[in-house]
Amino acid sequence: MKIIHEPREMQSFSDGLRNQGKRIILVPTMGYFHEGHLSLMRIGRELGECLVVSLFVNPTQFGPDEDFEDYPRDFERDCRMAESVGVDVIYTPGVKRIYPPGYQTYVTVEEVTRSLCGASRPIHFRGVATVVAKLFNTVKPHRAVFGQKDFQQLVTIRRMVEDLNIDVEIVGGPIFREPDGVAMSSRNLYLSPEERAAARSLSRSIGEVESLFAQGERRAGTLISKGRECIKAEPLAEIDYVEIRDATSFEPVEEIEGEAVYALAAQFKKARLIDNCLLVP
Ligand code: PAJ
Repeated sequence: MKIIHEPREMQSFSDGLRNQGKRIILVPTMGYFHEGHLSLMRIGRELGECLVVSLFVNPTQFGPDEDFEDYPRDFERDCRMAESVGVDVIYTPGVKRIYPPGYQTYVTVEEVTRSLCGASRPIHFRGVATVVAKLFNTVKPHRAVFGQKDFQQLVTIRRMVEDLNIDVEIVGGPIFREPDGVAMSSRNLYLSPEERAAARSLSRSIGEVESLFAQGERRAGTLISKGRECIKAEPLAEIDYVEIRDATSFEPVEEIEGEAVYALAAQFKKARLIDNCLLVP
């Protein structure tokens, strides 16, 4: 497995592969891998000849009071895990290479980033869109794999690719869960044992909404209030939002007629956790 730090080296490596007609697949990450990340790498492995995983904890997507400094990092362990699933290249640039002095260009995706996570994390998606655009320009992938776990991020990236005519196919990968239903996240590490138990309320809420939906309930208001009850029953969980949106435009919906997403976020002291499921009539 090759490790590349320099953007210029990554670009010329990718140019070489493209000249040989090889398909480049990118899985962007911030490292500290878990099975969710590995599941995306396994999907990526099947999609082309060269699988690149980027590992960069991106400062511009963290708010001033967020966990950028504390975000977990373990490069050696990440390399071992990536190698075990057949990753060809780890691209891990330094912060000063991505944002050198004088840096001042940002990508803002407007409507779809205003609500939900964008409302409580105002600069987050600007940082995500900017770094992903830079990764696309450096790694030059044919396809890039993103998790549906961060559903609003996936919608934002799809919008950016469409709006800026970026020639990359975006592939979504399903949410990978712990055996008790909790969605895998690097931030689960921050949970105390009591909070970890309380975190199950998110997937319980999803289960409740999915089963009501399967019984034919289509009123978003009713689904949301039933789903909220599951989380409210947990005193350690503080609800940030519980919403149902159109899965593509992210507009609010009242009656579910097309593909929708049930999305929620809750704070457990230090850890802010998100989860979602698709509701397909
Ligand atoms: P990170 O949180 O490291 O996640 C990297 C990728 O793994 C994202 O596409 C995310 O949706 C996916 N992922 C996380 N948990 C998952 C799970 N339980 N099941 C399946 N996929 C999961 O998301 C980011 O990094 C950053 O915002 C990034 C896109 C790299 C830009 O900095």
